[in-house]
Amino acid sequence: MKIINGKILSDSLNKKLSKNLFLLKKENSISPSLVVILVGNNSASSLYVRNKEKKALEVGIKSYVVRLDEKIKEEELLSVIQEYNERSDIDGILVQLPLPLHINSDKITDKINIEKDVDGFNSKNIGLLALGRPNVIPCTPLGCYFMLDHFTTLKGKNVTIIGRSNIVGKPLSYLLTNKNATVTLVHSKSLNIKKICSESDIIVAAIGKPNFIKKNWVNKNSIIIDVGINVLKEKDGTKKIVGDVDYLKVSKEVKAISPVPGGVGPMTIHCLLLNTYLLAKKRRNILH
Ligand code: GUN
Repeated sequence: MKIINGKILSDSLNKKLSKNLFLLKKENSISPSLVVILVGNNSASSLYVRNKEKKALEVGIKSYVVRLDEKIKEEELLSVIQEYNERSDIDGILVQLPLPLHINSDKITDKINIEKDVDGFNSKNIGLLALGRPNVIPCTPLGCYFMLDHFTTLKGKNVTIIGRSNIVGKPLSYLLTNKNATVTLVHSKSLNIKKICSESDIIVAAIGKPNFIKKNWVNKNSIIIDVGINVLKEKDGTKKIVGDVDYLKVSKEVKAISPVPGGVGPMTIHCLLLNTYLLAKKRRNILH
């Protein structure tokens, strides 16, 4: 069994990105900048945002975190986004999800200018990806693709994606279809998930349920990417992060598997920084 190590892969991709950012500054006097908007005090979101900020600074991207009150009105949040849409010194805008329930997330993601939409969640960017004409590719799907592409060939392979969320499952199904995989997207209402998985070459688990994928769903040639980030409380009160796959048992039965933590998580952050770099160049018509 091989471990598809997202930490090692992201370290090497971040190094390459850091070099490219250095050259962009030297040759074009541009230092890309990212603004992350965090509404409220959700502890998981705060942790993600801190991790993003830390990595951004490490590779050489300017990162600003805007913390807004939980009770902010939708109109006010829309006008904050408009301000950053208009600011010429800002290359990427990310609004951390989930948002408080009184705010319509669709309205918010569609407000972000598609030229600064580092998450790729604006409906126009999702539509372009679905059509095979991508502008920005959402970070977690892109990270999954890099991991798979590093490890295997996708052309003609049967890939089952478990989970149809707008931020992972659906965009990943478009991306892998564009890359010539044969994609099955299963979800909570699907019948025969176990059979579909056991006949797949590749399984991507993005359902948000700990230990959901069991060892009798896989075979000796399965390649597994685990997108899940679930927090489990141990008997002694400590917290443990686990994925969607019953890792200890499944890892003994398959060809390759990505761990949690150290799998998709660091790749998602790499892709956010990569998207910021790519959009900074695109907005200024720098083509190399
Ligand atoms: N919340 C969980 N994942 C994501 C992500 O990729 N982007 C944003 N903006 N929020 C998230």
